[in-house]
Amino acid sequence: MAAESSEKWILNVTAQTPTNIAVIKYWGKRDEDLILPINDSISVTLDPNHLCTTTSVAVSPAFTQDRMWLNGKEVSLSGGRYQNCLRELRSRASDFEDEKKGIKITKKNWEKLHVHVVSYNNFPTAAGLASSAAGLACLVFSLAKLMNVKEDHSKLSAIARQGSGSACRSLYGGFVKWIMGKEENGSDSIAVQLADEKHWDDLVIIIAVVSSRQKETSSTSGMRDSVETSPLIKHRAKEVVPKRIIEMEEVIRKRDFPAFARLTCADSNQFHAVCLDTLPPIFYMNDTSHRIISCVEKWNRHEGSPQVAYTFDAGPNAVLISHNRKAATLLLQRLLFYFPPKSDTDLNSYVIGDKTILKDAGIQEMKDVEALAPPPETKENPTQRHPGDVSYFICTRPGRGPVVLTDESQSLINPETGLPK
Ligand code: ADE
Repeated sequence: MAAESSEKWILNVTAQTPTNIAVIKYWGKRDEDLILPINDSISVTLDPNHLCTTTSVAVSPAFTQDRMWLNGKEVSLSGGRYQNCLRELRSRASDFEDEKKGIKITKKNWEKLHVHVVSYNNFPTAAGLASSAAGLACLVFSLAKLMNVKEDHSKLSAIARQGSGSACRSLYGGFVKWIMGKEENGSDSIAVQLADEKHWDDLVIIIAVVSSRQKETSSTSGMRDSVETSPLIKHRAKEVVPKRIIEMEEVIRKRDFPAFARLTCADSNQFHAVCLDTLPPIFYMNDTSHRIISCVEKWNRHEGSPQVAYTFDAGPNAVLISHNRKAATLLLQRLLFYFPPKSDTDLNSYVIGDKTILKDAGIQEMKDVEALAPPPETKENPTQRHPGDVSYFICTRPGRGPVVLTDESQSLINPETGLPK
């Protein structure tokens, strides 16, 4: 954990944190600086084996400033949100001593010592897959371990929240509720775990990363515009979401998939309706997103009960939650029928994550994709195929919360220099 000399020592910690997808959406802040939301939200944590952030943090008397490297490039830590997290963590740091290695850091010292942060997302930051949720959760979790912060995950979630709202939900695995809270200082705006990842482990999640040429409105400015101009958002926050939160908690407890799917789709649709109700209107979904909704709606109707739920965040990517492996297999066949890769794409990089779903779907090569028959629900109304409209698919599932990686080989920081490996 540290180098030998008392003056040159470097202490470091590495952690891995998942991303999450909201099934009852967070949209709208009541305090922009503290990141306090206007409604509760509920999310599913995604398996970090497929989507995660890994962050190493280090402290040393030799460091002259706080520095961060994200996905191989040095970036500034001077932004208000990073600074809020660093300040909150430093104020909660505890004494640390390792006599053998000659390291002694008192609570007071933490205020003066600088940190280095090296972080990687195992998915493209630009893909719009809530990288800031996993990223800020990982930053807070790893620094809390390094600084010997003796707070539980809920307290840490309130710190992560100040870095990126939805990051607070990435402090837990499984199903997580972000309680909006009432206090002006945000102390009760925290995440709590509703159920762990084993509670409902037959769910399978397929993410369609949708190709997009359009520059999207950032969530921060989109939310601000919605709060200022949308009449619908007030109705949503006061009347709709409080009831949905109660229902969703019950549905998750009972693992009632049809009710889960109906609520998840309805809440995604209302969030996008709020975006359309904003001045100027915000369009996060595109034609491909709409085609995916239509494919799911047609199939669910044809089956008579929901097989899959869709949800879309502030971008065109679809997150599709299927009831079980059988439904996920049938879903993937449909998705590959409508959205095959371009002919020169390698199938292996077109469907990533849990490849066993692809195998179960009987698809090994491009010729298997080409041979897919139109789904039975489209018999009366033949539908076109749209090669190239989806960049790739990620097959995943509900996953666990943050962990410390103890194997030194997993550290992203060189223990001698304190710089990225
Ligand atoms: N924003 C996006 N990804 C991040 C990461 N891994 N660490 C900190 N901030 C981020």
